[in-house]
Amino acid sequence: MEKPNSITPPRGKLGVLLPGMGAVATTFMAGVELVRQKKAVPVGSLTQMGTIRLGKRTDGRSPKIKDFVKLAKLDDIVFGGWDIFPESSYDAAAKAGVLDAHHLAAVKQFLSKIKPMPAAFDREYVKMLDGKNVKKGKTKYDIALQIKDDIAKFKKKHGCSRMVMLWCGSTEVFMKPHEVHETAESFEKAMKENHPAIAPSMLYAWAAITSGMAYGNGAPNLTVDIPAMQELAQKHSVAIGGKDFKTGQTLIKTVLAPAFKARMLGLNGWFSTNILGNRDGEVLEDPGSFKTKEESKLGALEFILQPHLYPELYKTIHHKVRINYYPPRGDNKEGWDNIDIFGWLGYPMQIKVDCLCRDSILAAPIVLDLVLFLDLAQRAGLRGIQEWLSFYFKSPMTAPKLYPEHDLFIQLMKLKNTLRWMQGEDLITHLGQEYYD
Ligand SMILES: NC(=O)c1ccc[n+]([C@@H]2O[C@H](COP(=O)([O-])OP(=O)(O)OC[C@H]3O[C@@H](n4cnc5c(N)ncnc54)[C@H](O)[C@@H]3O)[C@@H](O)[C@H]2O)c1
Repeated sequence: MEKPNSITPPRGKLGVLLPGMGAVATTFMAGVELVRQKKAVPVGSLTQMGTIRLGKRTDGRSPKIKDFVKLAKLDDIVFGGWDIFPESSYDAAAKAGVLDAHHLAAVKQFLSKIKPMPAAFDREYVKMLDGKNVKKGKTKYDIALQIKDDIAKFKKKHGCSRMVMLWCGSTEVFMKPHEVHETAESFEKAMKENHPAIAPSMLYAWAAITSGMAYGNGAPNLTVDIPAMQELAQKHSVAIGGKDFKTGQTLIKTVLAPAFKARMLGLNGWFSTNILGNRDGEVLEDPGSFKTKEESKLGALEFILQPHLYPELYKTIHHKVRINYYPPRGDNKEGWDNIDIFGWLGYPMQIKVDCLCRDSILAAPIVLDLVLFLDLAQRAGLRGIQEWLSFYFKSPMTAPKLYPEHDLFIQLMKLKNTLRWMQGEDLITHLGQEYYD
């Protein structure tokens, strides 16, 4: 693909619409506001804190990413969204229990004004939840049109020049691609016929894409990972990305597994278990939603270790993932990993990782970066799947027949090289022979 000739500058307001305004979404919005008020530092956000090296190592050029590529300013973002619970984002944030009282107090006025629009929801797809703030319509198509209407009204009301939608809603039941997902036409027909292969998350995505709005998927739901949405994204010149934020356990997995492979150490098994007590954990108690998450978490190892290339090292890996809903923990998840590796002459060894992390604290900066980079992609005229954003996803979407890249450091290199390419800078190959000529 040709390098973009010009990137439209980020003038005016950027509207960010979030389907699902629970723990992650409210922690994200509160954090952006606290940074805007200069009461916090955006730790964890590559767009806000990261730098990018340009040219040779001896050139000393390492600007901040946000100065190198023209990203939207935090002050220019306006927030909105949908949820099945009608309470304001302040009440939702207080209930989620992620933020301390002093942080909540500082954003009370701001979050209290953000009230979710009625959601497109169906309990068939998220069995553990039930709420009253839900749209009514004869067909799924009618509901999708209502979402389009919400988008248009929000854009007008806030005078936004650009819009991004990022799914922060619950994990839906496991769904396989169906023939109705094949084309935009069959998808639209299926919405009109209330076909069960059309999940609520897909209605939001369809509404976003056909409104010319970029769409990112923070859950492992199938949503935009189907040909119909990719066809629509091309047609409407929309950037899409997914799926499932790569936050705690999978982040560590995609750091450790490449290290084992780099040193040609073998792997017999990897047992990952979690306890978490937030609403996400409750939703994942349902076997249908758990299956969606499990598939997303299981993929990484196989793709990183490439057992077909290294059968002596990775042919039989026992990879297990467990998630247990345990209310006392709230959002403060604990993820244990027991890793059985083997080394020289096949001698077995073990590694244990105990990750005591805050789920939404890890997810919020990812939401911010995705919003800003999807907006950048959109302004640069990049459309369809944005593979360079794989860095942020547990289960990255790719073109058909292409295997996804899961190694965190390859993903980061790809992301930064994409930014260099967009700005007409030399790509960094790490060859470095010129320093020794
Ligand atoms: N926090 C993390 O580390 C992390 C990592 C990866 C993925 N995720 C995913 O991000 C999503 C959000 O996580 P969370 O902790 O904020 O969960 P949460 O339960 O606090 O929030 C999700 C919200 O989505 C709402 N919702 C469900 N279906 C909806 C629909 N059809 N329309 C509108 N709203 C809907 C729920 O009512 C809820 O308020 C989950 O799917 C989770 O699996 C989170």
